[in-house]
Amino acid sequence: GLPARVRIHEVGPRDGLQNEKALVPAAIKAEFIHRLAEAGLTTIEATSFVHPKWVPQLADAEELMRLIDDVDARLPVLVPNERGLDRALALGAREIAVFASATESFAKANLNRTVDGALEMFEPVVAKAKDADVAVRGYLSMCFGDPWEGPVPISQTVSVSRRLLDMGCDEISLGDTIGVATPGHVRELLATLNEAGIADDRLAVHFHDTYGQALANTLTALQHGVTTVDASAGGLGGCPYAKSATGNLATEDLVWMLDGLGIETGVDIGRLTATSVWMARHLGRPSPSRTVRALSQK
Ligand code: HMG
Ligand code: MG
Repeated sequence: GLPARVRIHEVGPRDGLQNEKALVPAAIKAEFIHRLAEAGLTTIEATSFVHPKWVPQLADAEELMRLIDDVDARLPVLVPNERGLDRALALGAREIAVFASATESFAKANLNRTVDGALEMFEPVVAKAKDADVAVRGYLSMCFGDPWEGPVPISQTVSVSRRLLDMGCDEISLGDTIGVATPGHVRELLATLNEAGIADDRLAVHFHDTYGQALANTLTALQHGVTTVDASAGGLGGCPYAKSATGNLATEDLVWMLDGLGIETGVDIGRLTATSVWMARHLGRPSPSRTVRALSQK
């Protein structure tokens, strides 16, 4: 069966904008986040407290956090290490995400660490966040395939998921960073995670739409029992450290499907589409979302 309600974890301001060549001014990012909240999104990933040389697009994290402190939504931020956590806590972050990799190649490219080295780096971060009563999401990238290593064994994804939960992460977001998953693979991974004692209510899914499979994969996960779905307004996004990663599942495409299924999200698709059209004008290129295009041509 399908859930009555889905929580959308909006990643446009972070996963979307981190991959844009253009540097978007903090004031525009802040307006984007305000508009997403007004469209009904209740979890909006705002930015990352990473090294500014690694992701210059998000170097304005401090300034942005001050501009959105009045937003009525959960505003998680990415944090790779204690330095990042301290920066986030100083700005009042109440929710963070660490970001692990199922593969050695991506751990090296994204974090300059081995898989184990990255988990060691996260351990004190998660402990300190929990002490401060801050919620922690654990992203797991390359859950299905990796641009350097090819298909990723399910056992590898399950084992790193287990370790993230054991260190204290509240939720795991299963990332198909380069968008190579198909529904059969999704079903098999979720079933294997369940067999390993990881329940669907600890899981979220994070699909990229490289092969046009993001929505089919999401529906498969919902049928399985997952109720938290990552998506990016207008389909913005990718990943600067993973070649062949294209945009995330577009939030509008997701909401269009969920509305049709009578599944509640709290999102007003008209206001959301208007926001993505506005953002696309700023970025100087049209949204890749089919739903945004269809609704804005009406
Ligand atoms: P490193 O070079 O190994 O860093 O990078 P280090 O620990 O050796 O420190 C070097 C310098 O960086 C030091 O400064 C530190 O203070 C500074 P120096 O003494 O040389 O002047 N530094 C920092 N400065 C500010 N904020 C910090 C910070 N940490 C260290 N937090 C590091 C290691 C983790 C820092 C680096 O690799 C990094 O920032 N990586 C982030 C990459 C990233 O953000 N990638 C995108 C997000 S993941 C993603 O998109 C996937 C996802 O969407 C899911 C999916 O689709 O799969 C989540
Ligand atoms: Mg991503």
